Formats: sequence, C-alpha cells, structure tokens
Amino acid sequence: MSIFRKKSLSVLLSEADESEKGLKRTLSSGALVALGIGAIIGAGLFSLTGIAAADHAGPAVTLSFVLAAVGCAFAGLCYAEFASMIPVAGSAYTYSYATMGEFMAWIIGWDLVLEYALGAATVGVSWSGYFNKLLHEFGIEMPLYLTKSFAEVDGGGINLPAIVIVCLLSLLLMRGTKESATLNNFLVIVKVAVVILFIVLGWKFINPANHTPYIPANTGTYGEFGWSGIASGAALVFFAFIGFDAVSTAAQEAKNPKKGMPVGILGSLAVCTVLYVLFSHVMTGLVPFQVFKGDASPAATAFKVTGYGFLQMGLIIAILAGYTSVILVMLMGQSRVFYSMSNDGLLPKFFGDIHPKFRTPWKTNIFFMFFVSIFAGFVPVTDLGHMVSIGTLLAFSLVCIGVIVMRKKMPDAPRSFKTPLVPFVPIMGVVVCGYLMYSLPIEAWIRLAIWMGLGVAIYFFYGQQKSKLNK
Ligand code: ALA
Repeated sequence: MSIFRKKSLSVLLSEADESEKGLKRTLSSGALVALGIGAIIGAGLFSLTGIAAADHAGPAVTLSFVLAAVGCAFAGLCYAEFASMIPVAGSAYTYSYATMGEFMAWIIGWDLVLEYALGAATVGVSWSGYFNKLLHEFGIEMPLYLTKSFAEVDGGGINLPAIVIVCLLSLLLMRGTKESATLNNFLVIVKVAVVILFIVLGWKFINPANHTPYIPANTGTYGEFGWSGIASGAALVFFAFIGFDAVSTAAQEAKNPKKGMPVGILGSLAVCTVLYVLFSHVMTGLVPFQVFKGDASPAATAFKVTGYGFLQMGLIIAILAGYTSVILVMLMGQSRVFYSMSNDGLLPKFFGDIHPKFRTPWKTNIFFMFFVSIFAGFVPVTDLGHMVSIGTLLAFSLVCIGVIVMRKKMPDAPRSFKTPLVPFVPIMGVVVCGYLMYSLPIEAWIRLAIWMGLGVAIYFFYGQQKSKLNK
C-alpha cells in the first residue's frame, strides 16, 4: 500500500463523465467568473486595506495589492493548467492525486479545510461586524455576549450573527448548486457595483496631499513603510485574493470545463486586481491613511468625506452582500473537496452522499455547517485569518510544484491551457508564497503543524486502508 500510488488520468476523467449519478453541469464560463469574484472580493478589500495602509504601506498599499496579485497569478496560472486538464471536482486535491500520489493528495485536501472552511468562518465573523453596524444605523444594539466571542473580548460570549449566516447559506447549498449560483450572481453584481461606485464617486474627491509621499519613508523597522512595508502589506492583503481557486472546485459542474476553468480562474483574478488597485488608490486619497489605524470598516470611514453620506447605509448593505457571497462559495468549495475525498474512500462514505432530489453533497454541507459555526462563533478573527492564509499559501505552493511534476510525468497528456514559462512561473509561485508564509506569525505555523499532524494520523489509521485504490 504505497503512499505514492496515483489515480490515473483516464480514471479521473471517466469519473467526471458519470455525471448522471453525480453533480449537475450547470455553470457557464460567465457563471464561473462570477463564482471566482464571489469568493474573492470580501473582507480582504473592505476591512484589511485600511489596516495595511495604516500600519505598513500608506498610499502604496496599491503596490501591496499588485505584489500579492503577482504571487497569486503565478499560482493561478498553475491552477488553470491543472483545471483544464483534470476538470473534476476537488481542485488541488484531485490534481495531486494524479501527480504526486495519494498521501500528498490527502495532505492538500486536508489543508484546504483551512482555506475554505476556516475562510468561511473568518468572513462570517467580519460579516457579523458589519451586520451589527447596520443594526446600529437602525438604532438597534445587540448585547456584546451575543455578537462577539468570549475569546475575542472581555464580556463576549458567542458570535451569533456569524453562526446564523453560516447556517442559512449551508441550507441553501443543500437545496441546490443552481439556486446557490443564482444568488451568488446577484450578490456579485451588487458588490462589484458598489466597488465601481466607490471608485467613480470618490475619484474627484481625491486630495493629492493625502497621496504625498506615495511611498512613506521606512521608520527604521522592517515592515513599517518603505519597500518592506509594501511587502508586509502584501502578506496582509493576500487574504483579499483568496478564493480564485474555488472556481476549480466546481469543475465537475461546469458546462465546458476545458474553456471555462482557465477563463474563470484567470478572469476573476484579473478583474479583482484592477478593482483592488483603483479602490485602494481612491480610499487612501480621500483621507490621510493614518485615520485607518485599527478601523475595521475603513471604506465606510473614507466614503464619509465624499458628501454622499446618505449612501452609507447602501454601502454597508452591499458590503454585507459581498461577504455573503464569499461565505457561500467557500462553503461550496469545501463540500466539493470532501465529496471527492469520500468518493476516493479516503473519508467515510457519508461525505460523498448525494441528495436524491437536489443532487448536492448535502450531508457534507450539514457537517460543515456545524464545523464552521463553531469556529465562526468562538474563535477570534485574526487567529482565523492567519490560519486561512497559511493554509492557502501551502496549497498554492503544492499546486505549483505539482505542475512541474505533471510536465515531467505526463508531458503529452492533452491540456487546453498551458502554464507559460515552466518551470520559471511555478518556481516563482513557490518563492512568493513561501515568502508570504514566512511573514506570518509563529502561532499560525504551530497551528498549521498541529492540523497537518492530525491529518497525517487520520490518513494512516483510516484513509490508507479504506482507499478505493486498494481494490
Ligand atoms: N478573498 C476573500 C475575502 O477577502 C476571502 O473575503
């Protein structure tokens, strides 16, 4: 029972074709780009931009976004090749099963829980923050013990709004992929509209004095402004790009995955990069960046100076819509990864059961409804965010390595999209992701090690014996 045994490409592809029994092919290329944007624009843009500007980069937070985008583009190009070649649910997990073997595949699948499940929890907590702000606008105050975790503040208890949104979206996902995608499309239109509106309305209020100097001088400490500040800012706003890979988890539900996958992954990444740079340029132009220190809703703060204050409520609602779509797509991605792992026997059959009527992996949805709720309800948002980033960066690095392995082992297998400049692009992907991981706190590394250790134990006690490749 070698831990390096692989699933052959032909088996993978034939499994994807058995779609009568499995998932439904309902998503067009446009819906896939929307799915990507749905997962991408969220707390990273609306909450972290201000912190990155105030603590690390100043107005040059735009360059932090560019740097993070470059790192993601390297990984995105690698994802696109895989997704066009192996258009099966499960994303990076499935790709590594075909290239680096079962153990590595398990490791990635297990690691993706950090990205998707904890990603959903993180954004759920931010959602709750904006939701309370909205209630406040209506003069309603919820008690602290119902809106913040005891681990986050003294006097806190449970983050109830975060749990409620996670449960509602899990129920929707059980109901159907098409229904969920329809809601997602609507939410994406709302959030992209508000980002564009912010840029257009805010542009003429940019005060050049706020942008001078564009790159504030370093304070003498690494990461506090100057070029090192731009790099540290990039590690923070990397969170804003997480999610483009969620497109690839839906490969088995794409109408034409060979074209749709690269378009969905790279298209959503490109659109978001442009929007992020313009948005942050306007945001730091409206008010001096120092104002954003410790502010969890900097977009709302900056927008006040435009004189369109009456749009404030609309802005908060649109941001809530944006966060909702991120949580939705993350939860969906998570269930698809566990669905695939269960189909391969590495997880109990429970996770792969498809609902007879709705054709969704509904039991996995229920499981993650509870799992994500616990994290969203009780764990502080910064701890969650760091775990999401470190887990995602690890997965990205492994996908980049996977492309190099795939080119060596299966040079002639058909691919409708090829990563350019291999091995330069994948190596750069590993270097940039490695650098961003390095800049995360030691606690994140320790938690990553504990989580992965648990995963390794489960594989050797369960997955290795139960794997379908044994038969
Ligand atoms: N990229 C997603 C966000 O910023 C996770 O909310």
